[in-house]
Amino acid sequence: MDEFRGRVAVITGGGGGIGAAMAAAFAARGARIVLADVDAEAMERVAATLPLRRTEVLTIPTDVTRLESVRGLAAAAAERFGGVHIICNNAGVATFGEVADATHADWQYTMSVNFWGVVHGVEAFLPLLLAQDAGGHIVNTASMAGLVGMRWLGVYCASKFAVVGLSEALHRELADRGIGVSVLCPMIVQTGINENSVRNRPPSLRNPGPDVVPAAEAMVGGVIAPDEVARRVVRAIERKDLYVLTHPEQREILRRRATRQDRMFEPDRW
Ligand SMILES: NC(=O)c1ccc[n+]([C@@H]2O[C@H](COP(=O)([O-])OP(=O)(O)OC[C@H]3O[C@@H](n4cnc5c(N)ncnc54)[C@H](O)[C@@H]3O)[C@@H](O)[C@H]2O)c1
Repeated sequence: MDEFRGRVAVITGGGGGIGAAMAAAFAARGARIVLADVDAEAMERVAATLPLRRTEVLTIPTDVTRLESVRGLAAAAAERFGGVHIICNNAGVATFGEVADATHADWQYTMSVNFWGVVHGVEAFLPLLLAQDAGGHIVNTASMAGLVGMRWLGVYCASKFAVVGLSEALHRELADRGIGVSVLCPMIVQTGINENSVRNRPPSLRNPGPDVVPAAEAMVGGVIAPDEVARRVVRAIERKDLYVLTHPEQREILRRRATRQDRMFEPDRW
């Protein structure tokens, strides 16, 4: 079965960056698209670029931090298209700084979007996928920071590790139900995430003083385009891959982490 032609893909954080690139890649394969984002204008700009008839794109202003908002998104998508098949829980924000300097508002803001946003997507859409009994795929956007703890990204890492754990569990649980689960774990992608994360931060969760900008050591590795990430997501959906890795340099970093854990079983450590 073609995973994209005639299927319906819902993409949170579809107002730009990786979400917009996934929308374009899925649309090019014949999927109908539902974009969801807090930034309604950005979403409309993305919708206008998609190679689809107007009737095949739906834009729903959505705040993934609110379960009711994501439930509304699921209801609107299902009503318009009669079903949903590919769910990309992709909306996310980036926060930077040493854990010792993190404010409670940093934790709340980061977790509310990156962690609770994904949980709400699963809560709202998984019952629909199961009830439809027509396969489908969930793509949760985590990060390389969800696979390896990094300096300056502790709060962000905590939110993304949670998404990886949730996705690994879901992958096992849904395999027999014909629903694929992938977790997208890129290193740096050329998007406006840093500026968007400052702009989208609710006033009640803002810190006094200037926003922390990323330190050079928080940003290692090459920078790739969102289109390249989207191409890998398409392949992962087709193959039902769990992990979507995007940068060749990830291999050595992941190997070092596995080796460090493996060493703990050597006789001198055990
Ligand atoms: N850019 C990178 O280097 C990178 C690396 C690894 C992982 N990621 C992850 O990729 C995902 C997409 O990020 P991006 O880089 O494309 O950035 P982006 O800022 O271009 O896209 C994120 C989108 O999410 C939307 N958003 C923010 N809060 C929201 C909310 N509460 N409800 C609904 N929408 C909301 C923003 O308006 C924006 O359009 C994020 O989860 C991010 O953590 C990005």
